[in-house]
Amino acid sequence: MTLVTISALVVLAWAAWVLSAGRGTLRAVILVALALALFSFAGLIGYLHVAGFDVLLTDNTGRLAGLRPIFLTMLGAFAGVGGLLLLVAAKVETGTVAPILPRANEPDRFGLTSRWLHWLIALIILALIPSGVIAAGLADSDELNSNLMFAHKSFGLLALLLIVVRVGRLLRAGKPALSSGLANWERFLAKLTHIALYLLMLAFPLTGFLLSAFAGRDSYFFFVAVPPFVDEPLRAVVQPLGLLHKLIIPIIAYALIALHVAGSLKHALVDRDRSALRRMTG
Ligand code: HEM
Ligand code: HEM
Repeated sequence: MTLVTISALVVLAWAAWVLSAGRGTLRAVILVALALALFSFAGLIGYLHVAGFDVLLTDNTGRLAGLRPIFLTMLGAFAGVGGLLLLVAAKVETGTVAPILPRANEPDRFGLTSRWLHWLIALIILALIPSGVIAAGLADSDELNSNLMFAHKSFGLLALLLIVVRVGRLLRAGKPALSSGLANWERFLAKLTHIALYLLMLAFPLTGFLLSAFAGRDSYFFFVAVPPFVDEPLRAVVQPLGLLHKLIIPIIAYALIALHVAGSLKHALVDRDRSALRRMTG
């Protein structure tokens, strides 16, 4: 399992690198591969609608069990639409040239490090959400549950580390300005969404780690097992943390990520101004 997780990490890091500064055609290949992954996920959810969600979600206990098919259906729909958009993006990217970027941010575009962090963290978070929902819906004794949780916790803690680095850089170094053509409300909404996304990116892994630590369960960071804070679950703390990590933060995340992605795509496809996407891609 460690080997699979490490291979996934290498593939994600490479994809994030290509999305940040690769040649257009290579970027298109990655976008098509991501679209296929999204279509497979959407297909799996479609299949579960026919076969019944209990084929996959074998643990129907707990207050949130009834919500998981709804969450998965929504994620499946996001994945289907996202896959189609990625195919459009792949077509647009084909043949574009790779930008020659400095590592630091510039007044009119993000530098290599910011882009790389943005795409790596985005890919990790987008993969952690369905893996968490599926793992939570599996019986504790299921081997897939422990494997998914190993990967979920390892990548979750890695995301936390990368996010702390990202926030640290943001506080020290400047970043490019938003496009000048934006209306005031768009500018306000973009800034608010960005701040909320930073808070969300910190809150997700922190509550997950504390949830595990106070439930008396190990966390993992690839080869390293991180022991829990208590031997027996501390219910008074675990319950509110569970509510945050499994219900409140995911709902906020769905809304924010949808707003953020829809905003950047509206700007690129409807307003025909690709400057924002260009700040983070080509
Ligand atoms: C950015 C990072 C993370 C994201 C986006 C994320 C997301 C999720 C989601 C969506 C769920 C499913 C909730 C449900 O449907 O019940 C979940 C469950 C869970 N996550 Fe995370 N998580 C992250 C980081 C972490 C970390 C770092 C840990 C621990 C070290 C962790 C531990 C857990 C645990 C223990 C569960 C519950 C599993 C169960 O109920 O059996 N998560 N996570
Ligand atoms: C896959 C879909 C995504 C697309 C197409 C996308 C696109 C973009 C673009 C174009 C920008 C630059 C905005 C500008 O300068 O005006 C940006 C910035 C940002 N993105 Fe994303 N993004 C995606 C996913 C995510 C995810 C999943 C997160 C976090 C959960 C995220 C967090 C952020 C943050 C915090 C910024 C602001 C950076 C800053 O100004 O400091 N993005 N994104």
